[in-house]
Amino acid sequence: MTDAQFSQLEAELFDEYPLPLAGLHGAKHWRKVDHYGRLLSVRSGADLEVVRRFALFHDSQRFTEGCDPEHGLRAAHRARQYCADELNREQMQLLWLACEGHSRGMCSDDPTVGTCWDADRLDLGRLGITPCTAYMSTLYGQQLSGP
Ligand SMILES: [Fe+2]
Ligand SMILES: [Fe+2]
Repeated sequence: MTDAQFSQLEAELFDEYPLPLAGLHGAKHWRKVDHYGRLLSVRSGADLEVVRRFALFHDSQRFTEGCDPEHGLRAAHRARQYCADELNREQMQLLWLACEGHSRGMCSDDPTVGTCWDADRLDLGRLGITPCTAYMSTLYGQQLSGP
């Protein structure tokens, strides 16, 4: 995914985002997740095509800044609508798993899913939460987390 494609998709998701873009789960967070995702992918071997799309989709379907347990599932559905023509079957499955499960507190052995989840958690500092090493899936995520 080129930066131009990333920006195009980001703009489309911004337009439909129901919460304030400047909010806790808005634009700044999406870009931070993309930043961490690209950083982690260098060492984790994750599929960047999936990771960059995860950064944009995973919180894009939130209805509230608070507890919203179904937002990952809605994100997975939205990602499938958008990306089915761009990604192959395996990539689409990884993007689905990453979006759908991202807020359940799990870790993953899959380098792409694990990178997505670590990238999201590495930005927990914006909520006043220190990213916990025990909840990192990748080695690099573990090294970047903690107090
Ligand atoms: Fe989320
Ligand atoms: Fe997030």
